[in-house]
Amino acid sequence: MIEGRAGAVLTTSHDHDATIDKYQRYVATSFVKSIEPIVVARAEGATIWDADGTEYLDCFAGIAVANAGHRHPRVLAAVREQLEQVIHAASYIYHVPAVADCAERLAQIAPGDLTKTFFGNSGAEGIETAMRLAKAYTGRHEFITLTHSFHGRTNATLSITGNKARKTRGGPYLSGIAFAPAPYVYRNPFGTDDPEVVAERCAEMVEWAVTYQTSGDVAAFIAEPVMGEGGILVPPASYFRRVKEVLDRHGILFIADEVQSGFGRTGRMFGIEHFGVTPDIMVMAKGIADGFPLSATIARPEIADSLRPGEHLSTFGGNPISCAAAIANIDVMLDERLPEEAARKGEWVLRQLRDLARRHDSIGDVRGLGLMIGIELVEDRDSREPAPAKASRVRQLCREAGVLVGVGGQTGNVVRFQPPLVISDAEIDRAVASLDQALAAVADD
Ligand SMILES: Cc1ncc(COP(=O)(O)O)c(C=O)c1O
Repeated sequence: MIEGRAGAVLTTSHDHDATIDKYQRYVATSFVKSIEPIVVARAEGATIWDADGTEYLDCFAGIAVANAGHRHPRVLAAVREQLEQVIHAASYIYHVPAVADCAERLAQIAPGDLTKTFFGNSGAEGIETAMRLAKAYTGRHEFITLTHSFHGRTNATLSITGNKARKTRGGPYLSGIAFAPAPYVYRNPFGTDDPEVVAERCAEMVEWAVTYQTSGDVAAFIAEPVMGEGGILVPPASYFRRVKEVLDRHGILFIADEVQSGFGRTGRMFGIEHFGVTPDIMVMAKGIADGFPLSATIARPEIADSLRPGEHLSTFGGNPISCAAAIANIDVMLDERLPEEAARKGEWVLRQLRDLARRHDSIGDVRGLGLMIGIELVEDRDSREPAPAKASRVRQLCREAGVLVGVGGQTGNVVRFQPPLVISDAEIDRAVASLDQALAAVADD
């Protein structure tokens, strides 16, 4: 036994190795491309401790989940209280107050008149619900989505995902899905880096998708306000307004996938708030309950009520423990002004990373909103050839220096910085220093 910082008693390296061994024997790890060789024994705020006692600064937050920080005390207190009352209540009776309270809280923070929620357990389940709602409300069956998108790993959500690597060997996929180009300023088919031109062309392509790829029976357009797995792609400011004009012309609903961009991550409570449009349906998960599994699909009442009683259900959906955690999580976000904190800290990180870009030729692009930040690595700045090996080496070197970052992008060449929003300024500086050293080492490789 060894003492961790903050007085935690941590286990030994024997547990570390034995756990990895057992994992490899009994847990299907094939779903991740490269698993970090860390056995998390404890986590708090932006810090996690390995079972061998090593301390890490967590700059990936369990893939953008622990936005309020690992094990926020107010979330823990709410969960403990709920545990003493009821754990599961099922959907065929009115749920415990926490469920209705959580739905009310979501209605208060959601944009526009999105006020009625269906609860599920994962992001993918939330997206499936949104697709079903859009079909029920419009009586139509087709969808328009974006290249570079990621919406989950069920059959329907993979069908609307624009990433070959994620879709490999999962087909056949749904018919009636059309793809428009992602508003990716650094890489796009239009040969321009001008955000306004990208926004205009990409919105035109949504109209093209309606006209040339569908039968005109389009229920909804679905997009992530800031694209996460695709490599932290921030659309130009006018993109969603332009797209919304197209959608309105054709009576098509807009589904915002806020699974990754929601809950303060981008510097606003929801990513779409940066773009001056209101979705018809919005899907939340990941950061909604500070680590407890929950998804919420919120819609205008007339859309939410278009599913008839009994048409859609989830046994564990709206779990009271997760709902209690979500309420506390939202209260923490508002009281501690975490979206504003993310905006301030994100600007500081971006400024420092842009300085690094002046010194490290491997950096092709730095982009982000709030604490949803990507560093796109390239072999060569002129050709912009993606450099996935460099990205995974940077991730490894950072880990060896005690800092965990993520990797994403279509080819795995984007280093992702998505820490808990409670990360301190000093911790940010430490993370940036590690990135700096890792990029220097990669240049020497
Ligand atoms: C934007 C987005 N949508 C949907 C999902 C799927 O969420 P889950 O893994 O909880 O099913 C993810 C997961 O990374 C995501 O980033």
